[in-house]
Amino acid sequence: MNAHGGGRERLIVVSNRLPFTFRQDAGGRWCAEPGGGGLVTALLPVLRNRGGMWIGWTGAAGDSGALSEALASAGAGAGYRLEGVALTAEEMEKFYLGFSNEIIWPLFHDLQSLCNFDPAYWRTYCDVNAKYADAVLAHAKPADFIWVHDYHLMNVAAELRRRGVHSRLGFFLHIPFPSPDLFMKLPWRLSLLQALLEYDLVGFQTADDRRNFVQCARLLVKDAQFEGRGHVLVARLGRREVRIGAFPISIDYAAFQRRAGTPEVTEMAAELHRRLPERKLILGIDRLDYTKGIPLRLKAFENLLERSPDLRERVSFIQVVVPSREDIPEYHRLRSEIEQLVGHINGRFARPGGWVPIWYEYRSLSRLELLAYYRAADIGLITPLKDGMNLVAKEYCTCSIEEDCVLILSEFAGAAAQLYRGALLVNPYDIEGVADAIRRAYAMEPAERHARMRRMRNSIREHDVFWWVDSFLRAAITKDLRAFPQPHGQPAEDATEYQLPF
Ligand code: UDP
Ligand code: G6P
Repeated sequence: MNAHGGGRERLIVVSNRLPFTFRQDAGGRWCAEPGGGGLVTALLPVLRNRGGMWIGWTGAAGDSGALSEALASAGAGAGYRLEGVALTAEEMEKFYLGFSNEIIWPLFHDLQSLCNFDPAYWRTYCDVNAKYADAVLAHAKPADFIWVHDYHLMNVAAELRRRGVHSRLGFFLHIPFPSPDLFMKLPWRLSLLQALLEYDLVGFQTADDRRNFVQCARLLVKDAQFEGRGHVLVARLGRREVRIGAFPISIDYAAFQRRAGTPEVTEMAAELHRRLPERKLILGIDRLDYTKGIPLRLKAFENLLERSPDLRERVSFIQVVVPSREDIPEYHRLRSEIEQLVGHINGRFARPGGWVPIWYEYRSLSRLELLAYYRAADIGLITPLKDGMNLVAKEYCTCSIEEDCVLILSEFAGAAAQLYRGALLVNPYDIEGVADAIRRAYAMEPAERHARMRRMRNSIREHDVFWWVDSFLRAAITKDLRAFPQPHGQPAEDATEYQLPF
């Protein structure tokens, strides 16, 4: 694979979901709706730019044969081929909702108490990963670079190797990798680590995630030797070499900046300010997810209104919650908790003149609305308890084209490693600390707002999603790893520095 996508080698992206979800309309015709979440946002422009193939689940239960026409036409419109993987209702339950989202998702976000370690989930996870490997086998050629994404598909390389595939295989984990004390709780810890070490290159979002992975591998995989220094380390397992790097994911900066400046977006953002006049707008946009810290954020806003009466009627908090994983009980519970808190805070502080402190929306936004909300907001309030990266933070800064807004960001988001020089970093568990940060953002002088936002936007522009894909693919093919530059914010660590914490 040459790093710029030429030649006959193709890029084959494999992820749980395709970038579209397919649904049948009232007349029985299959329609493609754009998918959501950070993985899709990041990869869409990459494939549009390079072409290739994307293999993943169609979002519909049952056979994907009936969908082949819809897949072909969505792929033709997008500029790359789409190949669907069909999941049965039981597979969706045990592989997607179960193993992926009731075990790996909470554990890897340090929320072990939310895990449901059901052994049946693991068996289905292995079967479904084998199914994805079969789909790759059916469509890929030996020279292709196969790039598997995210926690749903950690076993795909092991399944492909079992089927005699020798192609180059890369893996990128979009979510955090936990520290050994958490990872060791996983009943299938050794199998999963060994499976990850079947890839040729394993990429993480941050140096911390990579360190956690290397520490776990040192502890569990006794015959692995770790060496190297800098951006990409190497694990040696007999004659095999596995590269391990940190590649902070990003967005298509130029496209976001361009669209944010269009007259439609500018007008819609101005309309929002007209509807909420003479006040600063604070914005939170998140999928419905307990990792995003929404209830604590609402409590921080309440604390602000309690301790700073002068800010009442001077600020409005717009919180958009995008529906997600609604079949998991924990997500249901979270929605009720958020809605009760919003009701409680609005009931406590709303004034007869019309001021309502929280403007809450539970829905997906259109692209135009999303950009207008980013443009309109004076303060971005992004406080996940833990997040692989958090692309909303990067999108918000990119759309702040006047560079006069403030980003308040959790120190536990992967994006903090890059944006710490411009954002007001907060501990999302510190309710008063977050309230103080909002107060500080509210009062910040224009010169400081400008300097901070400029620093963040420069960094995102230099390290956009095309930089990300290039650095990952180069790390996969380059002969001399020492030639690799160290990306922003990532310490130049040595493999030998990754000692075990115990
Ligand atoms: N997003 C979306 N629909 C919406 C609102 C947001 O698809 O109604 C996108 C948003 O633009 C961003 C992604 O969802 O690209 C969220 O990515 P992030 O990394 O912040 O979190 P994730 O949802 O992947 O955990
Ligand atoms: C996160 C994960 C993605 C996932 C997305 C949306 O970004 O890293 O792999 O696609 O959330 O979640 P969903 O369960 O709807 O695919």
